[in-house]
Amino acid sequence: AIERTLSIIKPDATRRNLTGKINAKFEENGLMIAATKRLHLTRAQAEAFYAVHSARPFFNDLVEFMISGPVVAQVLVGEGAILKNRDIMGATNPANAAPGTIRAEFAESIEANSVHGSDSAEAAAQEISFFFAEIEIVA
Ligand code: CMP
Repeated sequence: AIERTLSIIKPDATRRNLTGKINAKFEENGLMIAATKRLHLTRAQAEAFYAVHSARPFFNDLVEFMISGPVVAQVLVGEGAILKNRDIMGATNPANAAPGTIRAEFAESIEANSVHGSDSAEAAAQEISFFFAEIEIVA
């Protein structure tokens, strides 16, 4: 089925001017960028977005990292987009990411791993509505 997923190009990638190269990976692999927004998250926004991880030992460092520079939030649309985007990104830890994936090519560490992608249909719907109004999503 055609799905939507929420992607974030993280501060390590915007800092290195990799937005275009990452967008090319999405498009080359059959995902359409149906919405895109560059923003600098506040601490409150980053904490709210990652609330599901608030009990994890890496939470504070994750929030600090996510507010360390601009991010690009995007809605990606395509056949099986949620799983497809996870394949395009590669494993969370770049040391385990398959060749050709975004994280294998660009990520610096498990924290500075260049991209976020929704991990389920429920998360995708919730994360998309965190950043975008329906009128901003054009597939
Ligand atoms: P992301 O998909 O954005 O979801 C949570 C993020 O926490 C994850 O990618 C990583 O960038 C970050 N993170 C930092 N340390 C860890 C860790 N030990 N395990 C999992 N995620 C981590």
